[in-house]
Amino acid sequence: MSSSSYKAPRGTFDALPDQQPARRLVEDTANLLLERAGYARIETPIFEETSLFARGVGESTDIVSKQMFSFTDQGDRELTLRPEGTASVCRAYLEHGMQKWPQPVKLWYSGAFFRHERPQAGRYRQFHQIGAEAIGSDSPLVDAEMIVLLRDLIEALGIEDARLRLGSLGSIESRAAYLDELREYLRSHESDLSDEVKGRIDSNPLRAFDADHEGTAKVMAEAPTMLDRLDAEDSAHFEAVKGVLDDLGVSYDLDPGLVRGLDYYTRTVFEFTCESLGAQSGVGGGGRYDGLIEQLGGKPTPAVGWAAGIERLTLAMPEVPQGARTRVFVASDDSNRQRAMHLVTDLRRAGIPADLDLAGRAMKGQMKQADRLGAASCVILDAETDPVIRNMENGEQESVPFESVVEKLIAELA
Ligand code: HAM
Repeated sequence: MSSSSYKAPRGTFDALPDQQPARRLVEDTANLLLERAGYARIETPIFEETSLFARGVGESTDIVSKQMFSFTDQGDRELTLRPEGTASVCRAYLEHGMQKWPQPVKLWYSGAFFRHERPQAGRYRQFHQIGAEAIGSDSPLVDAEMIVLLRDLIEALGIEDARLRLGSLGSIESRAAYLDELREYLRSHESDLSDEVKGRIDSNPLRAFDADHEGTAKVMAEAPTMLDRLDAEDSAHFEAVKGVLDDLGVSYDLDPGLVRGLDYYTRTVFEFTCESLGAQSGVGGGGRYDGLIEQLGGKPTPAVGWAAGIERLTLAMPEVPQGARTRVFVASDDSNRQRAMHLVTDLRRAGIPADLDLAGRAMKGQMKQADRLGAASCVILDAETDPVIRNMENGEQESVPFESVVEKLIAELA
């Protein structure tokens, strides 16, 4: 029950203690899988110059045109809370001369991102992503490695209903020709399209593939697709990516209409979706972005990456892990509180999760608390007698000299 009129801002949430084990499992699993594959962690600032995202993600995208939390700081700098991580990682790659490191540079990150979207289940204004980027190689092996790593993360979390959608957007040049063709096609069917799609024929015609609008969907079912317009090199690259995935037993659905909401993609794009999540079914996605580093002022540098939403992954996880439990509770009467503290400290140092009463409960209340916490053992310190160790499962009790309590519990619980 809220006792204050303050609430977390719309679209944000508190990740309470009971959600932490699942969140930690996502991060720990990603850390393990990615570092095992040679990805090193990077942390970049929560905010960047606004123009980094405008240039990197693209002015015509929803993210840049509608969803950025932007502000001017006291020094009149235009700044934006990061809506995604790829532009920041590319900025860091250039800023720190990573072109001179052995290529590709493989990096991963985990952190908070911000988009001013309409909040709904699985969609927040502050959310968290695990992301991975491999910069400096155009090998189809890297595309496949990336896809396999995201698949492995999803599987390791016990999520079984994820479906992989795969597409290719071609190179910037071949896409330009295709986009002209698509614009022409859309114009020739303008009367059947939604107003939103009509308004974007010039700026972002690909988004028409995403539309729920019935008339638009019908038109798009017959639309020319980029997959049919790939040039020889893009097509060979895409065939190679699919070949590696086939060889590794990764199943995917080809999706010619897979458009991601960011402008920087070239060639391979992919997305994992879980139907069980409802409308916000995208758990993670990414693709190649061979033009982005150049767009940000560097030399042409191929790259590929993905990001997955921590909240969506935890929503899709069938089992929620339990947090670490108190194994030993030390109950004491008032004259033994300091000894109880001593014992708890020694137990914790020995690696045993231990706790004591800090609320002045009577002995009976402390036993109840030990039960509530699910402790395996309770040490009872009262009067001047030796401590008693009570097995909370079967109720057996044993008197043990104070000096031997820790050793005895280690032997029992370790
Ligand atoms: P994205 O598809 O925009 O890609 O976001 C990746 C994932 O972040 C989504 O699949 C979803 O799980 C989660 N996500 C996005 N927006 C929200 C939201 N408002 N609330 C909750 N979760 C959300 C990117 O961000 C690219 N930077 C991925 C990438 C990396 N491409 C290449 N490298």
